[in-house]
Amino acid sequence: MLTVRACAKINLTLEVLGRYPDGYHQIASVMQLINLSDTLTFEASDRLQLRCDIPQLVGDDNLVLQAARLLQEAARCRQGALISLQKGIPVNSGLGGGSSDAAATMKALNEFWKLDLPRQQLEALSAKVGSDVLFFLDGGTALVEGRGEKVTPLPSLPRHWVVLLKPPFDVPRKTPGMYNRLDSSHFTSGQFTQTLVECLEKGERFDGSLCYNAFEQVAFSFFHGLEEHQQSFLAAGAGWVRLSGSGPSLFTLVEDRATAEMICSKLKGKAYLAGTL
Ligand code: C5P
Repeated sequence: MLTVRACAKINLTLEVLGRYPDGYHQIASVMQLINLSDTLTFEASDRLQLRCDIPQLVGDDNLVLQAARLLQEAARCRQGALISLQKGIPVNSGLGGGSSDAAATMKALNEFWKLDLPRQQLEALSAKVGSDVLFFLDGGTALVEGRGEKVTPLPSLPRHWVVLLKPPFDVPRKTPGMYNRLDSSHFTSGQFTQTLVECLEKGERFDGSLCYNAFEQVAFSFFHGLEEHQQSFLAAGAGWVRLSGSGPSLFTLVEDRATAEMICSKLKGKAYLAGTL
């Protein structure tokens, strides 16, 4: 039996630079791994099976099963596994939970099935599962470009506390829908991401004014009530609040634990407390 953790991410910046002919978008993003996590357990089995504490997530489209099948095919492997997924990351929330589960599954099954697939092959397979999956192979703080397939490690963001608010919106096929709502007025040149990258490389002080998210405008008009959640987050003491991914999760970063706990307690059980990794 093998048990691994799959951690969430936040986007410190998320810029959309343009649209490729196939409809995908070119992004520039600084992604940051945080210690809010799902847990995956792998046990020997003659076939591939997934169990989850949220049963609605068990289906052929689950990225864990897609990752496992791709690995089986690539390694011509006939082994199965009983995979148990315990969700700690809110689902469909802009925190990358599904992508992180897929990356964790690839790494774990490569070991559990003793496949020894080289790193390069895992990278190629992870990009097939989803645009964000490659980032989660190593996590940390990274510059993510292209569709997500170009990942460059950055110096770690100094440790911060992360307060997250996941408003109760659940929209099927949310990510493509949010990308479709963007037009060229939401595109930027990558300058916000570049400024943050320089700040991290020079070891300069980080603050929330360096964060940016191209989806905020469309998210605030699409998710009715998101603005009220942002206002209550600010009223609870957050100096600034940003959207993660295509939403609807909102986050702020603070340096000290007492402030983070105070904001969390004022949000009365609606918030998650985590830390950057
Ligand atoms: O790659 P992934 O399956 O996670 O992407 C989900 C959807 O999000 C894609 O079908 C596409 O509509 C959109 N997307 C995009 N540009 C990206 C990543 C995702 O348009 N860079």
